[in-house]
Amino acid sequence: MAQSFFYSTSLLLIALCFGHAAVLQQTTHDVGCVHLPIVHSTNVNYFSSKRGVQLQLANRSDVAYYAQLSIGTPPQPVFVQLDTGSFELWVNPDCTTVSGADALFCERVGQYETTRSSTAASLGTSRTLRYGIGSANITYFTDTITLAGSPMALRGVQFGVATASEDAFSGILGIGYGKGYATKYLNFVDQLRVQNVTKVKAYTLALGSKDSREGVIVFGGIDTSKFAGSLTKLPIIPAADSPDRVPRFWVDMKSVSITPPNGVNRVYPSSNAPVFLDSGSTMTLLPQSLTAAIAKDFGAQAPDSNGFYRIDCGLTTVNGTVDFAFDGVTIKVPYKELTREVPSDPPACFLGIMASEKFTLLGDTFLRSAYTVFDLETDSIWMTQATSCGSSPAALNNIQDLSAVTGVCGRTESAVDGTSGTALPSPAADPADAAAVPTTNAGVRASGTSSSQGSSGPTTTTSGASRRSWSEMGLVWILGAVAGLHLFI
Ligand SMILES: *[C@@H]1O[C@H](CO)[C@@H](O)[C@H](O)[C@H]1NC(C)=O
Ligand SMILES: *[C@@H]1O[C@H](CO)[C@@H](O)[C@H](O)[C@H]1NC(C)=O
Ligand SMILES: *[C@@H]1O[C@H](CO)[C@@H](O)[C@H](O)[C@H]1NC(C)=O
Ligand SMILES: *[C@@H]1O[C@H](CO)[C@@H](O)[C@H](O)[C@H]1NC(C)=O
Repeated sequence: MAQSFFYSTSLLLIALCFGHAAVLQQTTHDVGCVHLPIVHSTNVNYFSSKRGVQLQLANRSDVAYYAQLSIGTPPQPVFVQLDTGSFELWVNPDCTTVSGADALFCERVGQYETTRSSTAASLGTSRTLRYGIGSANITYFTDTITLAGSPMALRGVQFGVATASEDAFSGILGIGYGKGYATKYLNFVDQLRVQNVTKVKAYTLALGSKDSREGVIVFGGIDTSKFAGSLTKLPIIPAADSPDRVPRFWVDMKSVSITPPNGVNRVYPSSNAPVFLDSGSTMTLLPQSLTAAIAKDFGAQAPDSNGFYRIDCGLTTVNGTVDFAFDGVTIKVPYKELTREVPSDPPACFLGIMASEKFTLLGDTFLRSAYTVFDLETDSIWMTQATSCGSSPAALNNIQDLSAVTGVCGRTESAVDGTSGTALPSPAADPADAAAVPTTNAGVRASGTSSSQGSSGPTTTTSGASRRSWSEMGLVWILGAVAGLHLFI
């Protein structure tokens, strides 16, 4: 709708990012931001092969999100998983340690050969990055990194080249806090700012809905075509005050509630908690009692042996939402986005929330419905409901401009029947209310390996993230602790 009217508010955004990848190669001057398309693992245009990888990827629908980097001189393209929950970049997973479709997928993400780059330099230092499942032994290198979709080149960027890895089928781009917080060197996000590719140390993430299968991350800027209205600023809880004392994107969640189709919003008890935003986690992890209460409303009485709550796939077509409230903004997550759909025969569906006493995090099952700015300048998260009405990435000259920016979309796509216009959660609710969601669920099991979550405790750099893999689920990643990235659900 009134696109031109709203557009005027975007004048604060000094420069438009240059357009699409095809155009970008030709441009050469600093425009202050870089936007990278985010590729869902299900996008066959990027990852399909003539040998059936496509099918396997489809099984991992909405589990992971990738961006393409080009490393070295001449540039070697590699895909890396985007992870707001970790701090370091590494590439070159050992594909021989993963099997079947995962190995094929792993080969497709690309490898970087240091010997083929005239600008590669080894730093001679190594370390092991550990995850709940999987690990990578890396050696640090520096090299030039160019960004698909941008004329900018970052020089002398430090990152890890894996000499060995286990249970990892792509590298990881950790975009959490860097030097002075979580790393001893300038990480990727730091370098973008230091090398003046961006004017602010901030980036915005729009993963894209399951149906759109493509999102965008804009480093140093925002995309006003991915939301409506204004952004709400939330303080990031300082590491020292956070539950695990790790510098992550911790924010205060005020409540979780459910808005069934044509129903009344109902708040879950004890749903006020600090949570961190982790694009590296396929699932959202919440405390056991809260998870159980939500699962019950989705018709699931008990989790399977892996901790997954199987739900009726019919719920993905129901216009209800689970609403996550923060101070001044509520993100309404449609049932469909909150569901992990496994295209087995017959299809199986699982609630995108799992119980964890160790981590309380909002993963991809939440983030797909939010438009989020990770502001490392003022240590804030700026957030609103995600929608999509095109593409207009633009650079930010000053982080304060965010308070005046308005999205150009007329209406949120996720404003669904019976929910649009609903107010914030009502204060009281009886936890004993009948199930809010009509369902006829049967308790089927999915098997798989299980569930250890690595503990964290990192005070310096990457490592200690946690993730899980269940083969029948396709992969599910949970990078918690210090490293992280991924998403497949
Ligand atoms: C990484 O190195 C350690 C010892 O330095 C070794 O025990 C471990 O097996 C290696 N990891 C992999 C995935 O090879
Ligand atoms: C970035 O810009 C600042 C201020 O304009 C300048 O002082 C600095 O040298 C620039 N850094 C690089 C790497 O160009
Ligand atoms: C959900 O809402 C959309 C748009 O308002 C509508 O097209 C669709 O039919 C609704 N679905 C159900 C199951 O009510
Ligand atoms: C993936 O899904 C297809 C059906 O959609 C099924 O035939 C195939 O066995 C599945 N693969 C795995 C590894 O689950």
